[in-house]
Amino acid sequence: MIHKNAADKLIGRQTMVREDFIELLGYYNNPEIRELLREEALQLRKQYYGNRVFTRGLIEFTNYCKNNCYYCGIRGANPNSIRYRLSQEEILTCCQKGYRLGFRTFVLQGGEDPFYTDEKMTAIIQEIKQRYPDCALTLSIGEKSRKSYQLFREAGADRYLLRHETANDAHYRRLHPDNMSLKNRKRCLWDLKSLGYQVGAGMMVGSPGQSVQTLAEDLLFLQELKPQMVGLGPFIPHHDTCFAKEPAGSVDLTLYLLTLVRILLPEVLLPATTALGTLDPSGREKGLMAGANVIMPNLSPLKNRKQYELYDDKICTGEEAAECLSCLEKQVNAAGFSLVSERGDAWQWQSNIPPQATGH
Ligand code: 5AD
Ligand code: FES
Repeated sequence: MIHKNAADKLIGRQTMVREDFIELLGYYNNPEIRELLREEALQLRKQYYGNRVFTRGLIEFTNYCKNNCYYCGIRGANPNSIRYRLSQEEILTCCQKGYRLGFRTFVLQGGEDPFYTDEKMTAIIQEIKQRYPDCALTLSIGEKSRKSYQLFREAGADRYLLRHETANDAHYRRLHPDNMSLKNRKRCLWDLKSLGYQVGAGMMVGSPGQSVQTLAEDLLFLQELKPQMVGLGPFIPHHDTCFAKEPAGSVDLTLYLLTLVRILLPEVLLPATTALGTLDPSGREKGLMAGANVIMPNLSPLKNRKQYELYDDKICTGEEAAECLSCLEKQVNAAGFSLVSERGDAWQWQSNIPPQATGH
């Protein structure tokens, strides 16, 4: 017992209200409580996942994007972004390389690129699942209709990453142009969940306009959605965006949020993100020590790595996947964990019987 209401409530798995989350975020300034919470997070992580760290092979297959999120380096209106798309063959080559390296999850991530119609995506998904039936396939290709999500699911996609970015409406509008809405973002996430995907939401830490209040709303939303995965990384300015002059998010606050999310959703799959490793050379190790249990090394072809530039100075753009992996392995071991070669499903999926889809 920490004898602070909100912290005890969180640890006791009671339902939290907005004020509880605000109080919890306030403990960021109390090193003692922060450390106690971190230990609790590590304990929970250990209970569900032991010392294992799951890996995901990230394939950034297109940097074309029809959207214009103000923070993002590959937003459609950035004329300086050099665009590329990978062919189906190139994507499959990445998977082959990844499989040999021990990856059993592939993440297809891209901008919202209309070139990849539902038909094209479905064909790619089916081909990957046919060649690698023992692997999980995660999509991260943005907002789509329920119908599209259903087609991808039926084609074999297992998981979907779509960060909500912020659960506060005014803050969402500060980060995105008028043609995007928090309402649609949430609709997507609920659709994905009801279709039986393992779903990942999440937010940047320190995005312009973020406050304790908006972060509390993020945590409230995560409590409500109960995603299987949460992507949490610091905001990092990109020189070709309107946020070029904004300060980057805080590594320590990101670590604290990883800790809170691990306690809030004990079984969650929580990556120590590349953005965290970009701001601090030992950021990913620190992430694991704060409650994270997933690492997502890059499997994209070297020739395109630098072009998938969401933010400035992104790390691991010059290394082959194999080099990245051995470097990561050292870091992971140094933090007392070990990389494993398995699908790494969310805990309640590990029986291989996914919960019944509740879709209509
Ligand atoms: N800094 C940090 N993260 C970013 N993302 C996009 N742009 C940035 C940035 N400038 C994150 C978003 C998106 C994910 C793919 O990358 O949260 O959902
Ligand atoms: Fe591509 Fe936002 S800029 S989805």
